[in-house]
Amino acid sequence: MISIIGSGRVGADIAFLCAANALDDILLINRTKDKAIGESLDIANSIPSDSKFSIRGTDDFSKLSGSNIVIVSASVSIYQKYRTEHLFSQVNMIKNIAKKVKQYCPTAIVLIISNPLDVLTYFFQKESQLDRFKVIGIASSLDSSRFHYVLSEKFNVPLHSISNPTVIGEHGDSMVLLFSNIKVNNVPILSKINENEMESIVNNVKNYWKVLRMYNTRSRYGIAKRTFDVIDSFINSKDLEISASVVLDGEYGENDVSIGVPVKISKNGSIEIQKITLTPKESELLKKSSNQIRNFIKSVKS
Ligand SMILES: NC(=O)c1ccc[n+]([C@@H]2O[C@H](COP(=O)([O-])OP(=O)(O)OC[C@H]3O[C@@H](n4cnc5c(N)ncnc54)[C@H](OP(=O)(O)O)[C@@H]3O)[C@@H](O)[C@H]2O)c1
Repeated sequence: MISIIGSGRVGADIAFLCAANALDDILLINRTKDKAIGESLDIANSIPSDSKFSIRGTDDFSKLSGSNIVIVSASVSIYQKYRTEHLFSQVNMIKNIAKKVKQYCPTAIVLIISNPLDVLTYFFQKESQLDRFKVIGIASSLDSSRFHYVLSEKFNVPLHSISNPTVIGEHGDSMVLLFSNIKVNNVPILSKINENEMESIVNNVKNYWKVLRMYNTRSRYGIAKRTFDVIDSFINSKDLEISASVVLDGEYGENDVSIGVPVKISKNGSIEIQKITLTPKESELLKKSSNQIRNFIKSVKS
């Protein structure tokens, strides 16, 4: 069973993709019960008619029992200017949810979507004491998709002409866009752009969410698809390489922080952090990014 905690826009969209693709039974858990029930009644009509799966909505966390995969897309309220705006209440919320997951489905794989992503992934893992590879923050793969799209617009080429657009680091202002391995039509990107153009691309990716807000909308479809891909890889035993936030234990020279790094999910469901070569500049930016996340974590602890 796939359980989705927080059936707002993002949670409902993830549920829709899972239902329409008949991945598994789905449970929506929401603070306001009626929303979970209403969304589940609507999404139920998207389940293929030859499927054995169903969807239910509730506010009862004990129904988490039997979940193989738990998605956390709950949010106490919507931030306006910074992802860390509701830092304290979001951390409080994630700790309570972690306790429920530990109590009712301690063997589940947990995907954190809620913001501030890296900080919440860290606190969920610490509170639940689940294996660090069972608590995965999904956001850097969305940032990588945005990077990919911004590059395709910049060079006026289709997405498939661009290889390796990867973002690591914080899902926030200190995110690190890796230009060094990208090729556009098989030509290294670094031979095609200058520092100013790179800076402009970095800002476009960092501020992508603000542009959505400017058009009076919020991020939902991209993150729903990136999350669906991860669920699909676990359920249907598919290899998947993405950037995702995981609590580090020495990888990339970092400890006791959750941050976006390249991760491989193998067919057998095992997860490993991949070591990729970073330029000295990229390493320095990743260090700054981990310090940024660490500062947020410290501010909650102190
Ligand atoms: N990782 C990423 O790249 C990414 C991308 C987009 C969004 N996000 C994040 O995803 C989260 C959800 O975004 P959204 O647009 O879907 O927000 P939303 O529409 O406001 O939905 C949040 C839902 O969480 C519910 N909720 C709040 N506290 C809860 C709790 N303790 N237990 C269960 N449900 C609870 C709310 O219930 P009520 O019905 O009572 O309000 C609401 O339905 C936000 O933190 C957002 O920043 C992350």
